[in-house]
Amino acid sequence: MYDSKARYVRSLFSKVPLEYDLLLGLLSFGQDRKWRAFVVKQASPLPDSVILDVATGTGLLAADFARAIADRGLVVGVDLTLSMLQTARERLKERGLEGRTDWVLARAENLPFKTGCFRSASISLALRNVSDARLTFREMARATSQGGVVISLDFARPPNRAFQLFYYDYLLGLFPIFGRIASQAWGRTLSYLGRSILKSRTGIQIAALMIEEGVQDTKPVPLTQGIVCAVYGKKR
Ligand SMILES: C[S@@+](CC[C@H](N)C(=O)[O-])C[C@H]1O[C@@H](n2cnc3c(N)ncnc32)[C@H](O)[C@@H]1O
Repeated sequence: MYDSKARYVRSLFSKVPLEYDLLLGLLSFGQDRKWRAFVVKQASPLPDSVILDVATGTGLLAADFARAIADRGLVVGVDLTLSMLQTARERLKERGLEGRTDWVLARAENLPFKTGCFRSASISLALRNVSDARLTFREMARATSQGGVVISLDFARPPNRAFQLFYYDYLLGLFPIFGRIASQAWGRTLSYLGRSILKSRTGIQIAALMIEEGVQDTKPVPLTQGIVCAVYGKKR
């Protein structure tokens, strides 16, 4: 059963999958590659690792994980938006990574996997979007084996006041304008992005939430002037 936030988020993302990768790259000035590389490095997958990527979208992070493992490993991407998953499947097939990936239509808050069956679990640029962040971490921790890495990467509010002036103009002013030039759907999605970042949890709050849900030694690491924050730890 989908709640109103899940329905809203799905309606936003269902209309933008084809341009998503390009726009993320353009609007982040290519920084998104570095953010994903950081996530993969912290998760440090082995060649035979089975990895979970929650709210996988078009599979950008899943692709980076799939490249980091060998054919003996597997990346399972989960999302609630069918068109995002279909795009992920097609893109990774084009890149020859289909043998290392599987796609599951499900909600982050109710993962259809056995306890402890993944070596690591990630959620990238999506914690603001889920309906229940606590349940999401509970489920990610449950599905991860003991000692495995649970990691969240998400947009955050940069701490530096001078940088904030420039960044908020860009995020709240220019972003939705660029979006509307691309399409009405992108206009809606990018104005939602700005609003959701203003309400987002801090890295310290995310780390505390993860600890409560069974992840230990959590550490927040701000990246790119703090416009994103990675928070990670190990399943207890
Ligand atoms: C901004 S995209 C992020 C995609 C990808 N992880 C990335 O880093 O580019 C957010 C994704 O989260 C998905 N999503 C939002 N809420 C979700 C939930 N409760 N369960 C599963 N997926 C969800 C959306 O469908 C969308 O594909």
